[in-house]
Amino acid sequence: MTAVSERPAASSRTALSNGIALEDIVKPEEGLISRRIFSDPEIYELEQERIFAKGWFFVGHESEIPEPGDLITRSVGTDPGILARDDEGVVRVFLNSCRHRGMRVCRTDRENTSFLRCPYHGWAYKNTGELVTAAAENHYGPGELDKDDLGLIPVAQLGTHRGLIFATWNPAAPPLREYLGNMAYYLDIIFNRTGGVKVLGTPQIWDVETSWKFATDNFTDNFHVFSAHHSLVELGMLPNDPDFAGHGTMVVAEEGHVLHLTPGAPNDDYASMGLPHALREKFPEHLDADQVLMAANTAYSAGTVWPNFHWLQLMSSGTLGQKDAPFLNLRMEVPISPTRTRMWSWLLIDSDADPEYTKTSYETYVRTFGPGGIYDQDDMENWEDCTRASLGPAARQHTLHHKMGLGRPVDESWPGPGTAYRGSYGEMTQRSWYAAWLRSMTTGWPDRRSAGAAR
Ligand code: FES
Ligand SMILES: [Fe+2]
Repeated sequence: MTAVSERPAASSRTALSNGIALEDIVKPEEGLISRRIFSDPEIYELEQERIFAKGWFFVGHESEIPEPGDLITRSVGTDPGILARDDEGVVRVFLNSCRHRGMRVCRTDRENTSFLRCPYHGWAYKNTGELVTAAAENHYGPGELDKDDLGLIPVAQLGTHRGLIFATWNPAAPPLREYLGNMAYYLDIIFNRTGGVKVLGTPQIWDVETSWKFATDNFTDNFHVFSAHHSLVELGMLPNDPDFAGHGTMVVAEEGHVLHLTPGAPNDDYASMGLPHALREKFPEHLDADQVLMAANTAYSAGTVWPNFHWLQLMSSGTLGQKDAPFLNLRMEVPISPTRTRMWSWLLIDSDADPEYTKTSYETYVRTFGPGGIYDQDDMENWEDCTRASLGPAARQHTLHHKMGLGRPVDESWPGPGTAYRGSYGEMTQRSWYAAWLRSMTTGWPDRRSAGAAR
């Protein structure tokens, strides 16, 4: 019933070395996804070339590097990167690798400096990336050291949207704003509702023994909550109603970007993402009338900028007896092997939030998400076991099931952009994610745009 047809690929298909075509084992339009893609090293290598070398990736928020000289280390795709604000205030992103032998130039999480000195032989770079001094320079002969040509390697393109900084190694990628497409409308609701948000503290970073795709798959999945996090229901920290998070709207935007906007209990506490009234009053200054209404009707929202950047706007109790409180969490998964993933998690707070709300939001977030969070601990166990149970030679001949909502009609009355569906329980967001994955892996990225296959 769920066996994949692993027949040899016809020549026009994307064949693996065993002759299997990706198009035959990943069928998003039918809701069938081969388990093989969650562990196969060859598929993982292809992802490096066709997704991580080509796409746009989140590297940080502008509020993380507010001052000239600020510098933080990040992944850019799966490569190590440096996100810096140079002495003139210009934001820059480089490969964190010395031009001499490739040593990581910056080995701290963050610092403020005008210069970076490589710990291996001492080559020193300015925070513009320029190589200032090399080691033992008087021992190089004529033409042996061209310092002008040996600066840190910059990303091909850098873009920001509402404070979110993205970068790509791909000079042929469309500009960021074009890549975000109609998803920008929803990013604005979340990140510009009160005129701006900022990162509080530093991100939490930890590794999970899972394919990165099980984590991305989970992000707009609302219907796991009642089961996977049932201990919270038993403790009275989540509603004892299997449909409690299923009453919103799911939107499939352009380029594989997806989201849901979901109301909570029908009272004022759960309106407008639960934000304090002083913040809600700012919505009309920054959003249009339809966006204000969407924001007002939302308690929970999760979204994915394809492939691995997510937001989670949640209202939750953080501890027994605590009233539900809102927080805005940013997430990113960076694969470090086919079955190992580095998780990144940030808390954002509206720039105009008062100290009391900020404290409550922060405490609720750290108790619920991140490596010590109640929700994340449940989720991680699921992702790890999904990975382990899909590894074997028998398991990987079978598919996973993503059919919920295949026949659900489009909600033509939805006022926002994208294709909308009523109900926040459905797998249309995951199907859209895998469709973008398949396009990237088969026709290549961004060539699929010129091939007219992007939508
Ligand atoms: S590797 Fe950086 S100076 Fe040699
Ligand atoms: Fe979860």
